[in-house]
Amino acid sequence: MPGEPVVKLEHVKKVYDGQGKPSSVFEDLNLEVRRGEFLAIFGPTGCGKTTLLNLIAGFDRPQKGRIYVKGVEVSSLPESKLAVFRRRNLGMVFQTNNLIPHMTVFENVELPLVFSGLGRAERKRRVEEALKAFWISNYADRKISTLSVGECRMVSLARAMVTDPEIVLLDEPTDFLDALTVDLLLSSLKGKLMKGKTLIATTHRGRLTRVAERVIRLKKRLS
Ligand SMILES: Nc1ncnc2c1ncn2[C@@H]1O[C@H](COP(=O)(O)OP(=O)(O)OP(=O)(O)O)[C@@H](O)[C@H]1O
Ligand SMILES: [Mg+2]
Repeated sequence: MPGEPVVKLEHVKKVYDGQGKPSSVFEDLNLEVRRGEFLAIFGPTGCGKTTLLNLIAGFDRPQKGRIYVKGVEVSSLPESKLAVFRRRNLGMVFQTNNLIPHMTVFENVELPLVFSGLGRAERKRRVEEALKAFWISNYADRKISTLSVGECRMVSLARAMVTDPEIVLLDEPTDFLDALTVDLLLSSLKGKLMKGKTLIATTHRGRLTRVAERVIRLKKRLS
């Protein structure tokens, strides 16, 4: 619906069990993200940045409140529908990359396309384009287990973008990268690579917050 926020959180409460000592991350979080916006979520270790992305992607559920993505209430969507919804709408760069170590770079980046119904030649074209966009074309046949953490981060970015998703969630995308690569990546994120996409990126460093259009600061709750 035009004018509707693409991501919306209403009165979200998230408490982890914490082995008998409950740990409260959010008590009443409200957030609206506009279509096409580049939003940075900034805050110290443990403040809930990853938790917030996991809630938006439906990997985690709140105890109270509602979370909508493109008007769909992901906080109550059954697991089977969530997987399809994510595949069609979301790209995600995980803080720990979550790549499959014994598979090659090409195979990892191709994975999100495997259930897309695209033919082999088109999948290959898209994977090659994504590898090129993140400067890793030469790595296509390398196994993930042989790459540096910074190189893995690039593979993770290529995998998130290969489906051309409308919404991209990036958990600490600039971690493990040298200053020059961070600059290249940030200008890519701001530039045509991400045109028309909604980006939500977490960070505990200042650099990314300087290129984002809006910054939300989370504080660590003392629970
Ligand atoms: N599965 C879990 N069980 C219990 N507590 C958890 C769980 N996941 C996260 N937490 C706690 O919730 C809080 C927020 O964690 P989260 O990973 O979202 O922080 P973060 O802001 O992403 O931190 P970092 O900057 O280190 O990545 C932390 O105090 C963490 O210990
Ligand atoms: Mg985190």
